[in-house]
Amino acid sequence: MSPTKHFAAIIVEGGGAVELEEIDVPKPGKNEVLVKVVAAALNPTDWKSARPAERAGNVSGCDFAGVVEELGPGAGVYRQIGDRVTTCVYGARSANGAYAQYVVAKADFCIGIPDSWSFEEAAQLPIAVYTTAQCLYQSLRFNILPEPAAPEPLPILVYGSSSSVGNFVIQFAKHGRFEVHATCSPKNFDLVRGFGADKVYDYKDPEAPQKIREATGGKLKYAVDTISEHGSDKFISGALSDEGGKIACILPYSGTPRANIEPILSLAYDLVVDGFPAQRPDTGVSYIADGPKYAKLVTDLLAQGKLKPAPVLVMPKGLASVNDGFKYMIDGKVSGQKVIFRIADTPGLQ
Ligand SMILES: NC(=O)c1ccc[n+]([C@@H]2O[C@H](COP(=O)([O-])OP(=O)(O)OC[C@H]3O[C@@H](n4cnc5c(N)ncnc54)[C@H](OP(=O)(O)O)[C@@H]3O)[C@@H](O)[C@H]2O)c1
Repeated sequence: MSPTKHFAAIIVEGGGAVELEEIDVPKPGKNEVLVKVVAAALNPTDWKSARPAERAGNVSGCDFAGVVEELGPGAGVYRQIGDRVTTCVYGARSANGAYAQYVVAKADFCIGIPDSWSFEEAAQLPIAVYTTAQCLYQSLRFNILPEPAAPEPLPILVYGSSSSVGNFVIQFAKHGRFEVHATCSPKNFDLVRGFGADKVYDYKDPEAPQKIREATGGKLKYAVDTISEHGSDKFISGALSDEGGKIACILPYSGTPRANIEPILSLAYDLVVDGFPAQRPDTGVSYIADGPKYAKLVTDLLAQGKLKPAPVLVMPKGLASVNDGFKYMIDGKVSGQKVIFRIADTPGLQ
């Protein structure tokens, strides 16, 4: 029997902070599961979405990993009690968020965690892998794994390859038989080579776009921009072929330095939130049906041992460290790692 009350990180009005409060445990609805959270991960969207005043009172956090504790009506088709799962919810928008002891999620949107992955490692997956899938399969329209991405091996640039999204774009792209050119800081070169990058460049090197052009013979036509700010559009435009190309970006571009380059916005939320595309002027299409397809793909890749986790930084006080985690990320300290909150580390929680 699940408890009726639990502790959750509630957004405080103003200042983008959270505080722990005891609230009702959410009830799983049709095709939903109640998950007892073991570990939750920090994404930039979490601190960003804690700032608007209208989010006050909602539970923060999107990515989590834990154990299925209760099944809503119909959910047994997809999941069983005791399953180790990871997925994401639309954090900061309701009383259901990942920074909590319990969270309700769509059963068919849960990724199964193999025994070889800890909960702390698995919590880094959902937003990162779902964004990866949206970039490669929805925006750039490549064949979905296990098919090769295209009939011929193609070069692709992964800008910001040591980011959470970047390391999974590299891994998916390598399984799709791309030739991966990646950018990050030199201290992370070995890390991204370990994820499979073929060639790595320092994004602070002004010669790097030209070096990528030369290494790809002027034929680079595809890029995933996992940063999408601070001049990444200019860098990528300098590396792409004179014939033009496409960039899957993860924040909106205001344009590109060249007319024959098409930026296409990719959003993980499109897979999470029913009706979310209605907020997007560029498309009226719903991507929501792709969520379960990608959940199964990632479950299979994990079971086959085809994905590697990034190093995790477990914050010392579980949910009581969420505000420190926000600050650590806002200060730009996250580099080639995922910040994790382990619920059992929260002082005073049973
Ligand atoms: N559209 C979506 O659905 C979606 C999903 C996830 C994230 N996002 C957005 O994508 C961005 C990245 O998110 P994330 O979780 O992947 O980030 P993250 O893991 O926190 O990113 C950290 C990495 O960013 C790199 N970096 C920092 N500043 C940079 C700069 N000026 N130029 C190039 N690289 C830089 C660092 O690389 P080095 O340390 O190697 O320098 C670091 O490893 C955020 O703005 C987030 O809101 C969007």
